Amino acid sequence: MKLNPQEKAMLDGKEGPATQKAMQILTTLGKIYGAEKLIPAKSVQIAGVSYDNLGEAGLSFLEEMATGGGKTRTITTLNPAGMDIENWEKLGISPEFARNQNRVLEAFSSMGVNTTCSCTPYLVGNNPNYGDNIAWSESSAVCYANSVIGARTNREGGPSALAAALTGKTPAYGYHIEENRKPTVSIKVNSSLEGTYHFGALGLAISKKLDQHTKKIPFITGISSANLEELKSFCASIATYAGAAIFHMQGITPEAYLYDQPSQSLEINERDIDQAKLIISSKIEDEEIDFVSLGCPHLAINEIARIAEILKGKEVKKEFWITTGRPTKKTADSLGYSKIIEASGAKFATDTCCVVAPIKGRFKTLVTDSAKACYYGASKNNFKTLLLPFDDVVEAALK
Ligand code: F3S
Repeated sequence: MKLNPQEKAMLDGKEGPATQKAMQILTTLGKIYGAEKLIPAKSVQIAGVSYDNLGEAGLSFLEEMATGGGKTRTITTLNPAGMDIENWEKLGISPEFARNQNRVLEAFSSMGVNTTCSCTPYLVGNNPNYGDNIAWSESSAVCYANSVIGARTNREGGPSALAAALTGKTPAYGYHIEENRKPTVSIKVNSSLEGTYHFGALGLAISKKLDQHTKKIPFITGISSANLEELKSFCASIATYAGAAIFHMQGITPEAYLYDQPSQSLEINERDIDQAKLIISSKIEDEEIDFVSLGCPHLAINEIARIAEILKGKEVKKEFWITTGRPTKKTADSLGYSKIIEASGAKFATDTCCVVAPIKGRFKTLVTDSAKACYYGASKNNFKTLLLPFDDVVEAALK
């Protein structure tokens, strides 16, 4: 890899041990993937923030980078943590977990990271532009950035994203290269879609058809409209079930017009969508439901407004978590939505989510509108899951 004098100085340790380590990570990755050079990373988002996932080994690495003088050189935010940073007790998090989670956040903070914890960085001020090279690591956000924004990122791991933050650089390979962003398979959707849960089911339905293909960049046609909430749900689902880091949607995503439809073509019809819903929905009686959650990926303010509209003057009967980024929660506070929602007994789980919080064993049955939350609810926490439309999820909490 060709390095410029500043990059060489970083690699030689002239800017401190943490920057040196970061440069070693990036040059090693670059060599493995055949990158010729490093390019500026205009934005970074780091996953691996919950102490539940990091453990002591991950925390030691972060503390080593912090004491080694690491400082961010580009806008950097975090993925959700394992708890609501301000209201962890309300969510039943133990003081010991909270202590360790705070050590993680302190390590990031001392490196100059903005400790806003959200998987929708584009909703909370870390919002790159079309064509920007960035280094994000949350899979749903990576898919959103590449596909919906038209920014360019590989699916970074926590350490490589931190390395990008501490050097302001990322190796030029993978989705940073135009050639690698070309669609490889056409997918015609012959089904009307409405709402986050339909778009989540679509991600799973596509993954079932893509199984036999190794390189998966879908060019999707047949969808007449998709709003921000639907696209973030779809990104989370197709990243989870198909491992996709980019797709193009004709008439909707910004790079779709650059490409011809690939000749290999698949179809998704209503039956495929219905089957996908069934795959992640168990047969569940109302009285079995003990956990309801909205906000995977983190909620936008419009979605919180809708929850407030439905819950106004009512009382929830189930544990109901509303997960979002802190800046969005603050907007909800100022618009009066939080007061209405909290008066109903529903809880904001700000900075965290129903997957990264340490809740295994506390609940048995999760109801949500998110296909991704169904996947991890079952695989990580052994929950039975039920996928419902957004409004029906709120109604389920009231029964
Ligand atoms: Fe975000 Fe947690 Fe879902 S990190 S995408 S809310 S699993």
